[in-house]
Amino acid sequence: MSKVKDLGLAEEGGMKIGLAENQMPALMEIRREFSKTKPFKDIAIGCTLHITKETAVLVETLKAGGARVVLSPSNPLSTQDDVAAALAEKGIDVFGWRGINDKEYYECLQEVIKFKPNILIDDGADLISTVHKEGREHVENILGSMEETTTGVIRLKAMEKDGVLKFPVIAVNNAQTKMLLDNVFGTGQSTIDGILRATNILLAGKTFVVCGFGNCGRGVAKRAEGMGCSVVVTETDPRKAIQAFYEGYRVMPLTEAAKIGDIFVTVTGNENVIKKEHIEKMKSGAILANSGHFNVEIDIKSLEKMAEHRKTVRPNLDEYVMHDGRKIYLIGEGRLANLAAAEGHPSSVMQTSFSVQALCAEYIIKNKGNLSSRVYEVPEEIDVRVAELALSGYGIKIDKLTPEQEKYLSSWKFGT
Ligand code: NAI
Repeated sequence: MSKVKDLGLAEEGGMKIGLAENQMPALMEIRREFSKTKPFKDIAIGCTLHITKETAVLVETLKAGGARVVLSPSNPLSTQDDVAAALAEKGIDVFGWRGINDKEYYECLQEVIKFKPNILIDDGADLISTVHKEGREHVENILGSMEETTTGVIRLKAMEKDGVLKFPVIAVNNAQTKMLLDNVFGTGQSTIDGILRATNILLAGKTFVVCGFGNCGRGVAKRAEGMGCSVVVTETDPRKAIQAFYEGYRVMPLTEAAKIGDIFVTVTGNENVIKKEHIEKMKSGAILANSGHFNVEIDIKSLEKMAEHRKTVRPNLDEYVMHDGRKIYLIGEGRLANLAAAEGHPSSVMQTSFSVQALCAEYIIKNKGNLSSRVYEVPEEIDVRVAELALSGYGIKIDKLTPEQEKYLSSWKFGT
């Protein structure tokens, strides 16, 4: 059973999924392996992920491994309706459509929980927190879960600290083949893509303010620089701020950056980063976008209050006319700009993240009964294997450590 926008879009979605498969050889290799070994025989997997063509490739890989899969979206504006239709037609239970409201979003999560999943794949921890709050009778079926993003891992570590986490969770986000690739290159490119699709402005010559210089912020800053922008970084962590300065970016408090920025992107995972006091200082024409997980990084309530009126001037672009006549633009209602206004991360960069997801799901089955209710890092062998698969897909070979080098690197005895 599925609930999607329009099954008539399935053919279009199927073509997009085919394109993604071509770009994701690592994950397709895992699919070939799973089709033979069937690690998920009699296993139900519940996923709350952005419903994109890349997610479709993951879901079909799990299905090839014998799993029954149910899928709901992890953001109201990130669902690609044609992809959802194609998956529904292929027999995956999909509950989600673009523009879902908050109530419907949680109803879709409940559909995933009702499916009685044995494994969860979450993005942002809404599925995991909901099953803990409202689906306690299903918790005992759950062998373990994976979490895709930084914000979700932060929430889950807080659950672990409070002693409320009821099953093991693997922090997929923290794998090197995830956060050093997908967050940097994926969010970097697709955030710029979202800004361009929403506004069609020339980036060259613009002052581009990046709030948060973590993995995502680094990627966004680099890509903005590459497009000819003058990049300003705001941070709260002095270690990240000094890195940004050495990268050649100007670093300053947001109250200063607010006066000079043409474009502002938040990627902090924090709330109320761009506030009333900043918006008050901005130039007319300033563009605001968020690529952090939740739509809390820009204080949209204050923006609404400060505005005389708002109108949608292009798809995914709202113009707020302030009482003093200034115009401020907001992309995609302050939700993930790269997914709301573009198509999210390109397939190639998602092949590593989703290969980690697939192999961690298999790891949970293989280690049934041996894991406790805590947040685990991705096993190193999975991280390394995913990098090897990705390199092999690109036809890249690398050197191997010699036995002497391995010995040298594991000994404290060799010195000057
Ligand atoms: P990170 O933890 O590596 O970086 C966040 C940075 O923001 C840190 O350096 C922190 O010091 C800084 N920060 C926190 N509060 C701040 C404030 N008030 N002002 C300025 N800087 C502040 O996290 P990462 O991996 O870069 O993720 C950031 C957000 O993006 C998270 O919400 C994550 O879930 C989300 N994300 C979004 C993706 C997308 O597709 N748009 C993909 C991956 C992650």
